[in-house]
Amino acid sequence: MNPLNHVAIIMDGNGRWGLKYKNSRNAGHKEGLKTVERIIKETIKNKIKFLTLYAFSTENWRRPKKEINYLFNLLENFLTNRLEEIHKQNIRIKILGYKKFSSKLNNLLNLAEKKTSKNNKLQINLALNYGSKLELINAFKKIKKSKSKINEKNLERYLQTKNLPDPDILIRTGNTKRLSNFLLWQLAYSEIFFEKKLWPVFTEKDYKKIINEYKHIKRNFGKV
Ligand code: FPP
Repeated sequence: MNPLNHVAIIMDGNGRWGLKYKNSRNAGHKEGLKTVERIIKETIKNKIKFLTLYAFSTENWRRPKKEINYLFNLLENFLTNRLEEIHKQNIRIKILGYKKFSSKLNNLLNLAEKKTSKNNKLQINLALNYGSKLELINAFKKIKKSKSKINEKNLERYLQTKNLPDPDILIRTGNTKRLSNFLLWQLAYSEIFFEKKLWPVFTEKDYKKIINEYKHIKRNFGKV
């Protein structure tokens, strides 16, 4: 059976779910946050050490301002209300991406990272203002500046995922089959699961089914 250390998720479909059932995209984000909470619990239950969630991409700035503000408010409230509990559960929060938000949110994200930095039950990497192409370009720039050789080891040293194992599994909900500028380097050998369901209705049972399927896949990493 394959060991499972790291699950990455593209949580797609909030907008469509919200529009269909509540006549509002933002209602879909609110419901999507409930799924986030359920999936975190199930991740702990399955003793998985790393969970990376794509919450806001560098391209998501193209959305209407009202939706962007709603998303960041949701995140702000979530962290304000839940940080203590997250810390008590021995969960570590890490941000992937560039913290270029309001000073209130930047401070909150820094606080969450600092407060939980020694926790080791589960590490949640929240990809916020994250884009894989930008991450790679900046990593190459840093290699050039340091005058080191371009090789895998040196590149990985400058990625935002430094010290993280590559994801074993990528899940994308929402019935769309693309990577959307997410962890393009790190997903080179990940097992990819495209799920038809929209994120707000993705359940623990769906998650467990993927985990079980993954455990029985023959992973070759280029060998036979
Ligand atoms: C993609 O669905 C989802 C997002 C861009 C945001 C994800 C946010 C959450 C799950 C809730 C908040 C999470 C945290 C951690 C506070 P979409 O809006 O692109 O859906 P669509 O494809 O149906 O339009």
